[in-house]
Amino acid sequence: MATTVIGTREIRPIRFWESTNGQKAIMAVTGIVLLLFVFFHMLGNLQFFEGREQINFYGAALRRFPEALWAARVILLVSVVLHIWSSVKLAVRKNGARPTGYTARKNINSSYASRTMYWSGPILLAFIIYHLLHLTAGAIQPGGAFVEGDVYGNLVKGFSVWYVSLWYIISMILLGLHIRHGAWSLFQSLGMNHPRHTPLLKKLAMLFAVVVVLGYVAIPVSILAGVRP
Ligand code: HEM
Repeated sequence: MATTVIGTREIRPIRFWESTNGQKAIMAVTGIVLLLFVFFHMLGNLQFFEGREQINFYGAALRRFPEALWAARVILLVSVVLHIWSSVKLAVRKNGARPTGYTARKNINSSYASRTMYWSGPILLAFIIYHLLHLTAGAIQPGGAFVEGDVYGNLVKGFSVWYVSLWYIISMILLGLHIRHGAWSLFQSLGMNHPRHTPLLKKLAMLFAVVVVLGYVAIPVSILAGVRP
């Protein structure tokens, strides 16, 4: 890339992905990938309510094509890393734009949900690491021994421990807050925030978040309540 030298300083034009718009685009594209995953993972998990055989069959089906499974894992991992990287870059830029800081800080333009993004994100990352160690790797075994291939049994054992269920439920509520604002920001990044459509788009983002939270939370709640197939 061409650089210009002014005095002793070398000025280099910034690349698209280094610009605010570029990083917002990365957040939006990776956000779409993650929202799609979250939605389809929730649908897949709901097969728990069809019984042991069905959810275990689903788990086995995911492993039938290891190449496809690994391709999906790589896409997810790259999306998570880029999503976090661009969020950090945008946060640093936002703070750096005002080196002296505010004497009286008023969050006029940022909603409660948008401010929660920066602390709900790291908690969700901690949740995902715990979740993979718990239900994929079986390295954490609350409630009893992890059995490879017995998705139903692993869920029942884990969620019978009240504090494991509570941790999942709290994390899912945070996920709901995160994706409500994330989905809304996504519509804005795609330039769909015309005043006429804004109320509808906000409602759609809210609806999506509520459906996802209820779909996920249904499993630990039903196991704790002893109401399960
Ligand atoms: C109550 C909520 C959830 C339940 C009951 C649940 C259940 C499960 C189960 C049973 C597996 C293992 C599937 C198998 O190996 O056969 C799994 C894997 C996984 N879950 Fe979840 N999940 C929940 C929430 C989430 C959330 C919110 C995320 C991400 C934001 C997530 C991300 C993943 C990932 C990345 C895998 C690994 C898939 C793989 O590579 O094999 N899960 N989940």
